[in-house]
Amino acid sequence: MKLAFIIDAIAQLDPTHDTSVAIMESACSLGHEVWIGQMHHLSVIGGQAWGRLQPVQVHKVELVNGKWQAQSAWYATQPARMISLAEMDAVWIRPDPPVTTEYLYATYILDYAHTRVVNSPQGIRNANEKMYALQFTQAIPETIVSADKQVLKDFVAEKGNVVLKPLGGKGGEGILFLQPSDRNLNSLIEISTNFGKTPVMAQIYLPEAQAGDKRIILLNGEAIGAINRIPGKGEFRGNMAAGGSVAAIEITQREQEICAQLAPVLQKDGLIFVGIDVIGGFLTEVNVTSPTGIREADRLATDPNHRRLGDRVINWLAQG
Ligand SMILES: Nc1ncnc2c1ncn2[C@@H]1O[C@H](COP(=O)(O)OP(=O)(O)O)[C@@H](O)[C@H]1O
Ligand SMILES: [Mg+2]
Repeated sequence: MKLAFIIDAIAQLDPTHDTSVAIMESACSLGHEVWIGQMHHLSVIGGQAWGRLQPVQVHKVELVNGKWQAQSAWYATQPARMISLAEMDAVWIRPDPPVTTEYLYATYILDYAHTRVVNSPQGIRNANEKMYALQFTQAIPETIVSADKQVLKDFVAEKGNVVLKPLGGKGGEGILFLQPSDRNLNSLIEISTNFGKTPVMAQIYLPEAQAGDKRIILLNGEAIGAINRIPGKGEFRGNMAAGGSVAAIEITQREQEICAQLAPVLQKDGLIFVGIDVIGGFLTEVNVTSPTGIREADRLATDPNHRRLGDRVINWLAQG
């Protein structure tokens, strides 16, 4: 296969942590051709999406004493050239969120790729990572979305412990723990909603979050791996980016049922590679832009026959 990855600057990526690198590495090691570029390297010419892309070779990381180790020169690029995305067997779009205007425009350009895009540009536009979970009413904790201060305050007053989330955030950014007695309650709501203009999510606080926020990685709706993220001392957020520690974890029956509910909807929306967050058996987030977790899941896998998840993803794509 010929694969294009639209990513952030490759020099900024961490080969021992970033899922995009893991997938590119698998593609290279399985003998596929990998091209990379950034969002601003995309164009539409003659009704077709093109990219000024560089062929890249990504070298394998190796597990040494339970830690991934990368060569210092872990990738090698060749000069960029204009190439039609229609030549690709698939195009991955994986810049880090948030979904900015540039990100949105990149999805519009990729509508003209005339090949498979992972995840589907329409699907990404359709699926706000916080709001998308709301449709799975059986799976989510009690949740509201509002910019209205009184609505938010009433929810906090009624529920006691509440988590407030900006709709465009990631990695724990802007996530707040609210209580009715918090002397900053009004101010926190004002700042988060941009003084009543921007809606935010408010969700009941799940005490099980102390034991971890589970990331389950889904390929075409099927759970292929999971990791647990446990909040660090003095922190309620489990995100790796917020200092959470990572541990191996099984997928429960209830979580398999949640995945089964999501699968047909994800497939309909072309959301092929997704990471869901589950706390205490409740779905809290559906990450579709650039979900991570593969390196950690591979590092913690105990099954001696475990294959790198990137290999599974690439082999799935290769089967068409
Ligand atoms: N309902 C909740 N109850 C308790 N903790 C939560 C809840 N929702 C989120 N958290 C904590 O906040 C972190 C970030 O929340 P999440 O909704 O996954 O947003 P993001 O990862 O995009 O910042 C989670 O890892 C979890 O530790
Ligand atoms: Mg999350």
